[in-house]
Amino acid sequence: MKPPKPRKEIKNFQPYIPGRPIDEIKQKYGLKTVYKLASNENPLGCPHKVVRESMLKLIRILHRYPEGSSLILRQKIAKKFGITPDEVIIGAGTDELIELVAKTYLNNDENIVVSDHAFIRYRMAGELMGAKIISVPMKDYKHDLDVMARKANKKTKIVFIANPNNPTGTYNTNQELKRFFDTLLMRKLYPLVVVDEAYYEYARCYDDYPESLFLRKLYPNLIILRTFSKIYGLAGLRVGFGIARKEVISDLDRVRPPFNVSVVAQYAATAVLDSDNHLQKSVALVNKEKQYLYSQLERIGLKYIPSATNFILIDVTPFKGEWVFRKLLSKGVIVRAMDEYEFPYFIRVTVGSHKENVAFITTIKQIIKKGDKNDTCDKK
Ligand SMILES: Cc1ncc(COP(=O)(O)O)c(C=O)c1O
Repeated sequence: MKPPKPRKEIKNFQPYIPGRPIDEIKQKYGLKTVYKLASNENPLGCPHKVVRESMLKLIRILHRYPEGSSLILRQKIAKKFGITPDEVIIGAGTDELIELVAKTYLNNDENIVVSDHAFIRYRMAGELMGAKIISVPMKDYKHDLDVMARKANKKTKIVFIANPNNPTGTYNTNQELKRFFDTLLMRKLYPLVVVDEAYYEYARCYDDYPESLFLRKLYPNLIILRTFSKIYGLAGLRVGFGIARKEVISDLDRVRPPFNVSVVAQYAATAVLDSDNHLQKSVALVNKEKQYLYSQLERIGLKYIPSATNFILIDVTPFKGEWVFRKLLSKGVIVRAMDEYEFPYFIRVTVGSHKENVAFITTIKQIIKKGDKNDTCDKK
């Protein structure tokens, strides 16, 4: 007996390729030490003390279902950002929220607008719903917001903008974003605009980086996404949040699974929200280590895209990114190849601790030197 066929929309669906796990690579290559620089996590982890304290309080209530809407966390986020709890939604990572927006709003005769090398989960969410994907080329590795605003049409339901973008690490300025909204308004188009700020805490130090919370006044159909997975160091718990007008939150809430965020995630996220010290330390580490990586890459002769985040997109031409990725993997350094982003001659590396970054530089240097000599790689 054959199993039934999946929906036609997912016939050619490619699964998301996550960073490879440390244990798998240890087992596969018989390695004792493996460095994971593949998923833009915080090398300092989470603020241990506050998370430990919140976890101890939890044991007594683990037999209960979590509070479905993550009320306490929403209240705390609302207070921090000067908004109301009914303007906040919590998801199992922003990943869940991206899909939730698509499931709630997209009909299959509508479209989404994204840019060619944007975070891939937007495109996947659109495809899942059978919507058309309007994909716009980037300009200087940045979203070309002017063209994106012009490409939107009456059938555009959602525009997704990662700011900064993964994997390019670039951001769009306040002025660019304002102009984008102005163009939509001038054209009498009012799609939902999802501004995904997974790396907000790293980018906000740039003067021209937008404070998107203020832009909600200019464009009310704005949804802002932030996550606890990156700088807050809670990727393993899966928790992120969205900020939007309350009508949008209420629509999303009707589709959100009833207990989508575990009580462990809710407690830990509530506890870390005030960890300004930890955030400052993390930003300082990343900025220092980014300079180290830039200088070493220049020495090796590898080009990179300057990044406003905690990862760097590196041009490994004439080598194929996939080849460099596999070589690094076999030596215990996990990065990401960029084929799924249509950057076949690039890899993306997360800025790690100094020890991890040194390991990455030492290893890639050896690989590239040998690659040249033996000509074993797939060259352009
Ligand atoms: C731009 C962007 N958005 C969203 C996510 C998803 O993050 P999470 O689901 O862990 O919150 C990522 C993760 O890499 C990302 O880079």
